[in-house]
Amino acid sequence: MRHLLAVGDLGRDGIEEVLRLTESFVEVGERKIPKVPALRGRTVVTLFFEESTRTRLSFETAARRLSADTMSFSVATSSVKKGESLRDTVRTIEAMGVDAMVVRHRSAGVPAQVASWVDAAVVNGGDGWHEHPTQALLDCYSVRERRGSLEGLRVAIVGDVKHSRVARSDVAAFSALGAEVTLVAPPTLLPPDLTGWPVTASSDLSGTLVRSDVVIVLRLQRERQEQGLLPSLREYRGRYGLTRERAALLPDDALVLHPGPMNRGVEIDAEVADGPRSLVLRQVTNGVAVRMAVLFLLLGAGAGLGEAAPAILGGAAPRA
Ligand code: NCD
Repeated sequence: MRHLLAVGDLGRDGIEEVLRLTESFVEVGERKIPKVPALRGRTVVTLFFEESTRTRLSFETAARRLSADTMSFSVATSSVKKGESLRDTVRTIEAMGVDAMVVRHRSAGVPAQVASWVDAAVVNGGDGWHEHPTQALLDCYSVRERRGSLEGLRVAIVGDVKHSRVARSDVAAFSALGAEVTLVAPPTLLPPDLTGWPVTASSDLSGTLVRSDVVIVLRLQRERQEQGLLPSLREYRGRYGLTRERAALLPDDALVLHPGPMNRGVEIDAEVADGPRSLVLRQVTNGVAVRMAVLFLLLGAGAGLGEAAPAILGGAAPRA
């Protein structure tokens, strides 16, 4: 694998390999000095054309824990503001000598376009409504860590599916690992055509929750929405929010995930986000380890060395 642009680039075996390697990196993260020399001398740049808190910091932390150097590009303070084209921007950055670029852009397809222009490995950090593969990998890892396997688990993805790259990547990853995915959304926030999606769709949130092992709550993406898709936030919460009362319908061992940033009191109640079933902060912790695994697999030293990883990590055996 040269790039990670979509979950489909990995296939089931590739996903399994990333998750296996992630386990070793979770262990590295728990060490007193959570750093390994695996990517010393390599440079990773984060190119974010759209805002982000956790994804960008997570990739930068991941790169540093692998001893890579990092550079960071923000459109607001760059020559893009002077009209420099995307192609010139990325080729200029590559000319400084970078090994991997993590690209986030509001338009679908930009990371793939960048991959066609540069020799560096490209990781999609979220493109438009299209994909956010590392988010899906960390979601799968976080559930698997608690439940052992995803085979046969019933996963509900609730909310603004239409505008969500997280939903698209989660559907691909969870179904590749054997989970049964149900989408729950108002009709205006479901993609108009679900042909070819390995999912069932429902508008009955309560009925779905009683038989779900996992609920992934999506952010209501107000910045991506045209007017008129929702009557009001209050009504949205009333019908599709994971309120405290609704969360009580879940089986006792069900897990609640949210990719962040959360609109507390809209798609999820604060008590649920902070409650015992919530994996929200564990997702963030695991996100660093997943991104270490991805960078390690893409950047030479780790390429194809999944099995040899423990030696490279300084003798740490992956936990069984
Ligand atoms: C998501 C994103 O930007 O795609 N956030 C994230 O990366 N954790 C989800 C969102 O913005 O709703």
